[in-house]
Amino acid sequence: MCELYGVIGDPIVHSMSPVMHNAAFKKAVINASYGKFHVTPDALPQAINGIRALGLRGINVTVPHKTAVIPLLDEVDPLAQSIGAVNTIVNREGKLIGFNTDGLGFVEGLKKEISGSISNKSVLIIGAGGAAKAIYHTLAALGVKKVDLANRSEEKAAAMIGTCPAGVESHYHRLDEAGSVLHLYDIVIQTTSIGMYPRVGESPVRIERVKPGAVFSDIIYNPLKTTFLKQAEEKGAIIQNGIDMFVHQGALAFNKWTGVTPDTELLKKVVLKQLG
Ligand code: ATR
Repeated sequence: MCELYGVIGDPIVHSMSPVMHNAAFKKAVINASYGKFHVTPDALPQAINGIRALGLRGINVTVPHKTAVIPLLDEVDPLAQSIGAVNTIVNREGKLIGFNTDGLGFVEGLKKEISGSISNKSVLIIGAGGAAKAIYHTLAALGVKKVDLANRSEEKAAAMIGTCPAGVESHYHRLDEAGSVLHLYDIVIQTTSIGMYPRVGESPVRIERVKPGAVFSDIIYNPLKTTFLKQAEEKGAIIQNGIDMFVHQGALAFNKWTGVTPDTELLKKVVLKQLG
């Protein structure tokens, strides 16, 4: 029997998750199909009950449902709880369990770019939205001791820093001053939508100097090289776009559903082809 999986969101038409997961199922010779479901916020409770009623095996959750879905689930894992968002649901014999693979996917994708353990790195996250929060709490859970935030609104960054686990040092930088402190960090992660198509050419910061060997990562993948990444590369940084995070968050979800670790290089090729 064909097992059913999918992604729920609003909007959902441009999601690249189906092409990626269907390629992974084919490669793993698993008889399954992954679709996309347009679910508006008012229909979310019915959609979650629909997973139970129809016996869907696994679901990805995207904007705007990642937080609203939490009280509708039977169980939520501790990392997803601390992030306050779920992007992956596993249906374990009728029991719906929520996980968050966004931050772990980011870290998996970053591993090939950094030398040594991530826990010894100093990190700056630009932005304080949902993606920033997933990465922030995941880094803290992995033992990274210094994770600072640069954001336009201080309130949002301060609220996030207020939830910072003990043992992590975390400071706020004004966004308009962050450009002059970038050289203090081993890893700088751009998580805002600034520079995303069609606003190509814009960047949240002006990069003055980078630390030797620093990695500058942008979670945007359209365009593949944002203005932020172009500037970082010019200053000598190792750069990474958002494709790796997207592929690895998907691969981690796939593994939770099937126990199979997919070939992330294959998934990356499929996603790049889809992007055109
Ligand atoms: P996501 O869930 O994808 O991370 P989000 O929750 O909308 O997206 O968060 C967007 C982030 O980008 C926020 O940190 C936002 O800054 P504020 O907290 O000040 O709103 C930031 N952002 C978006 N557009 C921006 C802009 N034009 N200038 C500066 N920051 C911006």
